Amino acid sequence: MHKRVGIFVSGGGSNMRALVEDMVDDHAARPAVVVSNNAGSGGIAWAKAHGIATEVIDHRPFGEDRAGFEAAITAALAPHAPDILCLAGFMRVLTAGFVTPWSGRMLNIHPSLLPLYKGLHTHARALKAGDTEHGCTVHLVTPALDDGPILGQARVPVLPDDTPDTLAERVLEQEHRLYPAVLRRFAAGDTRIVTL
Ligand code: GAR
Repeated sequence: MHKRVGIFVSGGGSNMRALVEDMVDDHAARPAVVVSNNAGSGGIAWAKAHGIATEVIDHRPFGEDRAGFEAAITAALAPHAPDILCLAGFMRVLTAGFVTPWSGRMLNIHPSLLPLYKGLHTHARALKAGDTEHGCTVHLVTPALDDGPILGQARVPVLPDDTPDTLAERVLEQEHRLYPAVLRRFAAGDTRIVTL
């Protein structure tokens, strides 16, 4: 039996696509559903076009009611019975109420070499700090933002004429290698750290 993976996206969903495209052949998992808070997400359009179930839960009507938003996600997930959740550019913070029941079964990709640069604007912050190396991290999700045990990291050089955009592009290429490599191992029960 394949593990069933729910993938959460907010934007273009390029990491989601990389994960889905890798879940073939001897991979221990298959995509079960793509979830977004944004009906206009390119990731939702791509998933639909590829015959993958989708669920959209707009966060805006919930306002400050994060518990209500998360309850709606939980209800939407139920029929898809996921075993693993992968956050892939999902730009809403999830509270402990949602995260804790998924402990050890929810992954996230973050565009920095954690524990450096939790939160937003990671590429600009790496440039401002004068870092010569930057990258991305896949980690298990815990209630603390961008914290949690690291499952893999990929490094890129920072070049002298980099802007946040050129650096983001170089990191994103590595994200597309790292996240599938980590999920492939994780779904097979192997949590050794992947280093690219
Ligand atoms: C990726 O760079 C991902 O690491 C980042 O958003 C981008 C989504 O791109 N995630 C975060 O910043 C999470 N805090 P994608 O939609 O093309 O995968």
